[in-house]
Amino acid sequence: MKVLVVGNGGREHALAWKLSQSPLVKELYCAKGNAGIWSIAKKVDISPTDIKALADFAYKEGIDFTVVGPEAPLVEGITDEFEKRGLKIFGPSKEASQLEGSKAFAKKFMEKYEVPTAQYQVFEDFDKAVRFVKDVGAPIVVKADGLAAGKGAVVCFSEEQAIQTLENFMKKGALGGAGKRVVIEEFLEGEEASYIVMVNGDKYVPLPTSQDHKRLLDGDKGPNTGGMGAYSPTPVITPEVEERIRREVIERTLAGLKEEGIYFRGFLYAGLMITAEGPKVLEFNVRLGDPEAQPILMRVRGDFLQSLLDFYEGKDIKLEEDERWSLDVVIASRGYPQNPEKGKVIEGLEEAQKLEDVIIFHAGTTLKDGKVVTNGGRVLNVCAYGRTLKEAKDRAYEAVSKIHFEGMQFRKDIGDKAFKYLDSKFSSRKS
Ligand code: AMP
Ligand code: GLY
Repeated sequence: MKVLVVGNGGREHALAWKLSQSPLVKELYCAKGNAGIWSIAKKVDISPTDIKALADFAYKEGIDFTVVGPEAPLVEGITDEFEKRGLKIFGPSKEASQLEGSKAFAKKFMEKYEVPTAQYQVFEDFDKAVRFVKDVGAPIVVKADGLAAGKGAVVCFSEEQAIQTLENFMKKGALGGAGKRVVIEEFLEGEEASYIVMVNGDKYVPLPTSQDHKRLLDGDKGPNTGGMGAYSPTPVITPEVEERIRREVIERTLAGLKEEGIYFRGFLYAGLMITAEGPKVLEFNVRLGDPEAQPILMRVRGDFLQSLLDFYEGKDIKLEEDERWSLDVVIASRGYPQNPEKGKVIEGLEEAQKLEDVIIFHAGTTLKDGKVVTNGGRVLNVCAYGRTLKEAKDRAYEAVSKIHFEGMQFRKDIGDKAFKYLDSKFSSRKS
């Protein structure tokens, strides 16, 4: 069959890699992809958000199944457009995608259906928002309502910082329309984890657990980014915590969607803070995480395309997890996340890729004069398997050491937060 992946990043490279292993695939396409993806899928030169052109292409080319990576086309209604033309696509409708597309919608929804989350208020009036900040005090979290590619949430440790952020979002239009309305919420303490499930109406199937590293610098310092690395599984999600996530977050959310008459088919990602009181939702996404998808898909065994197709049709499926750990170190360009440089030649990819149990997923790369060059903020995901998390980490960083481009930056502590659990009660989890 003919399969289309929509998106350009590391998540989409991992999806294309996983789907390409299925014997069902005759032809794999990606719109638009990157230098890594084009070595395993045909390039479709259409932007992921040009949903009409994508639907035209899929219809004409006879694409049998489409999987969407990023949120923007989903929030803009790619699924509705494809379904209108009788094309099969895995990803939620425009209506269902509001869970990610509007923080205010998501918060109201969680409140209504008692999904645990931070206390919050929504503001469209700057002065009222400032008054609220002064009443409540810091630390406090200011979030733009709309999509902001990871730049829309600011954890503020002083009232001044919160007011400055409100000014940037609401008055200076730093995020365009996305910041006109804001959600201000209680600061939650705990450890973050990502819990992603495949959903089809009432049914859901969990993917392996993972943990992202959102801040740019070691020790969780610096600005928020799209994610600088991830690993799977995460020991923060113990069997007991997972049981609560399923009951209190996923199942209440699916029941709420049903109650609202909203049909959800696709990946549902709960970004969680595991607090002393239990798991609380920081955000919902309506897609796989990036970089979480990379270590997650590395650990999904078997024919993932077959599983997706069966699940799409409403069948019960079971996903088997690889026993090994997987870990992803993101290499980014100088200037990321504000102003990433582009066009730098990347060296050492082949040598790094030759290492045992190492997989490199490209993100912001393209080809120029036959060479792989940087083309965005996050450039590469250097991933490895290990029988222990330490082994996965050491292998990934060994591979990173072979790679070079001018101005490259990466965190050196991916996975470290897990070791404290593994040294104590979880030491026997994996040999
Ligand atoms: P979001 O886009 O809502 O996931 O927020 C991005 C990041 O900001 C999260 O991954 C957290 O690190 C942080 N964050 C968001 N909301 C809160 C909160 N209520 N308390 C503490 N940290 C938060
Ligand atoms: N890694 C966080 C996200 O994909 O939103």
